Amino acid sequence: MKNIGIIGFGNMGEAFAAGLPRLPGGVRLGVVETVPARAAAAKESFGAEDFTGRLEDFFAFAEIVVLAVKPQDAEALLQNISPHSRDRKFISIVAGKTLARLGRHLRSPYLARFMPNLAAVHGKAAVGVSFGDLPRDQAGEGFRREALEMAAVLGGAVEVPESLLPVMTGLSGSGIAFVFSFVHALALGGVKSGLAYDRALAVAVSVVEGAAAVLRAGGENPAALISRVASPAGTTIAGLQELEDAGFTAGVMRAVEAASLRARELEGA
Ligand SMILES: NC(=O)c1ccc[n+]([C@@H]2O[C@H](COP(=O)([O-])OP(=O)(O)OC[C@H]3O[C@@H](n4cnc5c(N)ncnc54)[C@H](OP(=O)(O)O)[C@@H]3O)[C@@H](O)[C@H]2O)c1
Repeated sequence: MKNIGIIGFGNMGEAFAAGLPRLPGGVRLGVVETVPARAAAAKESFGAEDFTGRLEDFFAFAEIVVLAVKPQDAEALLQNISPHSRDRKFISIVAGKTLARLGRHLRSPYLARFMPNLAAVHGKAAVGVSFGDLPRDQAGEGFRREALEMAAVLGGAVEVPESLLPVMTGLSGSGIAFVFSFVHALALGGVKSGLAYDRALAVAVSVVEGAAAVLRAGGENPAALISRVASPAGTTIAGLQELEDAGFTAGVMRAVEAASLRARELEGA
């Protein structure tokens, strides 16, 4: 059983607490969280020990520390934990904090950045993973394995050089919100044509789940699948034309690009 410490028990901290118990052997969780009600929720829902105000005990407990505070809170946090950080293992999910920035405060070579999304709570997040210069020894390799295993139980590890982590923000971290937007729009289309929103939404969610299942199972790319659905002079091609008239493909591409660029911008801030 692994002891994992989470600093910042917000949306993402909670998603990690929900997902990480899937690790083989299970986990014991400890949290540091400034909002007492959130620390209490961590204890109640996940049996996590509250180490808030006891950093020394927290670092004695945690084999791996997950940094899950908002970017604007990260600098102060890093300064606080710096004295406890020597040779400890850290995974940061803080958007915009580069490994170099983390390394200015954390006195350890065992650093990784994750870019997950909200689906981590269900073990369905595509998690971008980047490492710094890990020591080329057993400890370094061990940390790499542990981190990739953690990303895998949260949904799936996609290891990329840090320069491409902003793309994982656009595709995965923010991308899930683009999919929520699409599902909402699909449901509204059903409403426009006469179905109640709740029923239309349930159908839209099923359609997205079905599409994902077909894509995962088949080995065919989306373009090939579209041509299997769209028959000549049929209903689908009529709808597809409307989508493209409205700039759908270019709009989604721009959304991913804008989120990626914003993530890069935050790295420079
Ligand atoms: N949400 C997403 O979908 C998503 C996806 C990928 C990555 N991320 C990254 O994940 C990080 C967390 O996002 P989130 O949405 O989970 O934020 P959040 O809900 O605001 O959670 C952060 C929590 O940390 C607490 N906190 C702040 N400073 C602290 C400190 N020094 N010690 C202990 N706890 C502290 C906050 O308390 P206060 O409210 O009092 O500040 C808050 O409860 C962000 O850096 C974000 O870039 C988020």
